[in-house]
Amino acid sequence: MKQAPKHPVRLERQGNVALVVIDNPPVNALGVSVRLGIAAALNAALADDKTDAIIIAANGRTFPVGADIREFDMAPQEPSLGQLCSLVESARKPVIAAIQGTALGGGLELAMAAHYRVSAKTARMGLPELLLGILPGAGGTQRLPRLIGPELALDMMLTGNQVSAEIAAEIGLVDLVAEDDLRVEAVTYASTVKKPRPTSEHRAHLLDGAGYMAAVAARRARVKAELGANALAPLKIVNCVESALLLPIETGLQVERSAFEECVTSRESKGLRHAFFAERAAAKFPEAAEAKPAQVERVAIIGGGLMGSGIAIAALQSGLAVTLVELDEHGVNSALERIGAHYERSIAKGRLSEAQGAAALTHLQLTNKLDLIGEADLVIEAVAENFELKANLLADIAVFAKSEAVIATNTSYLDLAALAEATGRPEDTIGLHFFAPAQANKLVEVGVHDDASAQAVMTALGFARALGKTAVRAHVHNGFGEGYIGNSILEAYRHAADIMLEDGATPSQIDGAMREFGFRLGPYQIADMSGLDIAYARRQLKPRSPDARYVEIADKMVEQGWLGQKSGRGYYIYTGGHHMGVPNGDVLKMIAEHRAHKGIVPRKFSDRDIRDRILLAIVNAGARLLGEGVAARPSDIDAVMVHGFGYPRSRGGPMMDADATTPSIIASRLSVLAPEDPSLWGAAPVLTMLANERQKFADLNTV
Ligand code: CAA
Repeated sequence: MKQAPKHPVRLERQGNVALVVIDNPPVNALGVSVRLGIAAALNAALADDKTDAIIIAANGRTFPVGADIREFDMAPQEPSLGQLCSLVESARKPVIAAIQGTALGGGLELAMAAHYRVSAKTARMGLPELLLGILPGAGGTQRLPRLIGPELALDMMLTGNQVSAEIAAEIGLVDLVAEDDLRVEAVTYASTVKKPRPTSEHRAHLLDGAGYMAAVAARRARVKAELGANALAPLKIVNCVESALLLPIETGLQVERSAFEECVTSRESKGLRHAFFAERAAAKFPEAAEAKPAQVERVAIIGGGLMGSGIAIAALQSGLAVTLVELDEHGVNSALERIGAHYERSIAKGRLSEAQGAAALTHLQLTNKLDLIGEADLVIEAVAENFELKANLLADIAVFAKSEAVIATNTSYLDLAALAEATGRPEDTIGLHFFAPAQANKLVEVGVHDDASAQAVMTALGFARALGKTAVRAHVHNGFGEGYIGNSILEAYRHAADIMLEDGATPSQIDGAMREFGFRLGPYQIADMSGLDIAYARRQLKPRSPDARYVEIADKMVEQGWLGQKSGRGYYIYTGGHHMGVPNGDVLKMIAEHRAHKGIVPRKFSDRDIRDRILLAIVNAGARLLGEGVAARPSDIDAVMVHGFGYPRSRGGPMMDADATTPSIIASRLSVLAPEDPSLWGAAPVLTMLANERQKFADLNTV
């Protein structure tokens, strides 16, 4: 963990104006040393006769982005942020917040406790606490409705959306938008204000009590309809905003405090905070000590199918220039249609203006000439999953790509080191594994083989981050890491489900149990969506482990031509306008015959059995990847599962869930299941070690 700077707050002076300057890189989080520093500087300025007004400002790229989230699981230390905000508001001299960058959460609450707000033109403001399963706990729920009214306040708090400085000025959140130099203009403004103006005394938005209550009631009904009657933080936010009207501010603040405390200790908030830090930890690659990412301005993508087009769209969205290469004219036209259709949909949904769509497309070069990749800083092959095809293409890419370019393969499970070798430039070659739809799915696995240079790895990481993706490193070495992290776990997940299918469960029961747990789709819905032939082809290539139980059901389906959505039939039938599909009775019949043929007497699985077995399989596969050194830390596995596979974010991820159950209980449950299929249920050595040492996966998380 980073050490807090010794003096994170300084008191400066410009004439009769004192500046309380926060300097706590990287994001000026309001940890205890900052709160103490602000309180001390404020008190000193208040005691100083030569000071008429006080500005709270921040150095660096941003005004505070909130409370220090890392402190939420520690014993509270005074002054709390709420106490500090009350101190600011009760100051006898005018206090002005000078806002730049992103004033978020507790940062914006501090600004709202000040008497006046001046903001840089480019600043943005928001209360994103809900995304962490909590609510603004330093007066935000009481002060924001007073400043901008209940409806807008609820909008901001229930979406976490940020507003620009311009909008903030329009709605009454800031008093002045600086034209040029924020600090200079804030000082000028401070010398014009005569007296404190506490936000708690703003009454304009409280005068129409009936209108206020109607807005609150409507929002409460909407939250319940959309999120259910147990949506903890959203409903608490609505209650607190109601209290802002009904109660004196001191009591409203107490209501807010106890709501905050209830939310911050909830499992949901712990899960969401874990997910937040897991994403950031995953981006810490060891190669950062040796190399910096090279700038990627143009990316070339070979293969304009679903995956290649998706990567192209993601790159265009991030402002990069793209060369997309297809085999022939027909391929070029289909890729153009696919990308064009995406932009049309985005414009129709109001996500993009026509001008923005047209501007993005001017950065796209579509061609069937491979030699045009020569200007690209990064070249990604995204053709079909066939070793010969990819190896030959990569060899050609190496001929045309400039010598400094990084070459990436989007393979899901082929031998990465051998593909890198095929380029003749293995040090420049890396795995970049996107997940469909690549323009939307947040996960990218960076496959690192032993000959890859630190420079290539860091450039691939920088590119993934520039696309706004959560990048996770998968170390592919000595025969380990085939399938990286995500697909290796998915395989175990599917295998656990297939065993239950063969032993008595139905596809829709398994899918339903996993949806109930929080996945958007169950494993058989995903299989139907991906196409059963893809996994079938992979199974044909993979040697079978002698102690693995083999379930032939999916193979039999492919042999019947039931490939999923693409053939209209899979585990579900998609004809007749059923978008989600209805259970395929022929599959159920085939499964029954299959069981009879193997002499299996079907048994019942409860939804809980299904969920437990699948989670055990996921956790055990994750532990195996840790032992093999493919995944660096348990939280990387959580990030992969949350972003790539829809594991419910509010649970943090499977390894966090495993810690709640404890590794020793998991190991003992696995030992009961082991005889059924030792290859799946045999406890991974890391799990056994944690169980023996009475440790948790969290103990292995390093940053
Ligand atoms: N507390 C502690 N650390 C924080 C933090 C916070 N509120 N916000 C960011 N950080 C850390 C990150 O973990 C990261 O640390 P490492 O370098 O060690 O990984 C570092 O600051 C930089 O963050 P990012 O990598 O995310 O930088 P970015 O430029 O991509 O994004 C950001 C910046 C938009 C501010 C993003 O970090 C963010 O969304 N932060 C969280 C904001 C938030 O949720 N604020 C509300 C906090 S809760 C609150 O304030 C409750 C209250 O009412 C009392």
